[in-house]
Amino acid sequence: MAATAEIVTIDGPSGVGKSTISRKVSAALGFTYLDTGAMYRGVACYLEECGVDIGDETAVAKALANLDLQLLPAKDADSDVGVIICGKDVSAVIRTPQMSMAASAVSKLQPVREKLTAMQQQAGSKGRIVAEGRDTGTVVFPEAAYKFFLDATPEERARRRVRQLHEKGQIVDETEILALTIERDKNDRERSLAPLKKADDALLIDTTEIDITEVCGRVLAAVKAKRSV
Ligand code: DC
Repeated sequence: MAATAEIVTIDGPSGVGKSTISRKVSAALGFTYLDTGAMYRGVACYLEECGVDIGDETAVAKALANLDLQLLPAKDADSDVGVIICGKDVSAVIRTPQMSMAASAVSKLQPVREKLTAMQQQAGSKGRIVAEGRDTGTVVFPEAAYKFFLDATPEERARRRVRQLHEKGQIVDETEILALTIERDKNDRERSLAPLKKADDALLIDTTEIDITEVCGRVLAAVKAKRSV
């Protein structure tokens, strides 16, 4: 069986519940979970620490040559994937709203996309993976067998993000998070390289009115139905 026959991609805008759903789906299928957003966050943190001007793509490419990025598996279904950059654990730092915006900013740079797309394709080369992000169904794994695109209104996504950040002890203002959500959507959808977009062959699930259990049920049912064909 081709490795791509065992790849699930779950794309969608920020705050739609991709991470929680992807973790649960990967656990149910016994597949590896690949959080591509964590990699963009890690690179944003790395470039900031190196003091690289992200307007200078040559400097960015040069810095990326020394990037050592490792993902730490999520401890449980409710935890985020961790990230180690050049031996330093940046797992907490990368999850702030500021770092979300920085990740979105670096994700439009060609050297960053080239480097991370290659790393992601390598991680998925043996199949049995659930990849989540913005372009996993369109660019990273265009041949994946099972593709999903999750969506929800910006207001609902901002509410979910605020709840999540509160659970982590970060006190944030909902109006501000809504504005950042809308701005990040715009950046991610309108960039020229690998923009956030539903793959033509992805199943669209609007999660505004349905909970995580229901979404996971729909994803797993669709995978099961296609697997048994
Ligand atoms: O999924 P996330 O919120 O952790 O992603 C952070 C940013 O990284 C997101 O705003 C855009 C970028 N990203 C991307 O461009 N492509 C991906 N496959 C995943 C994330």
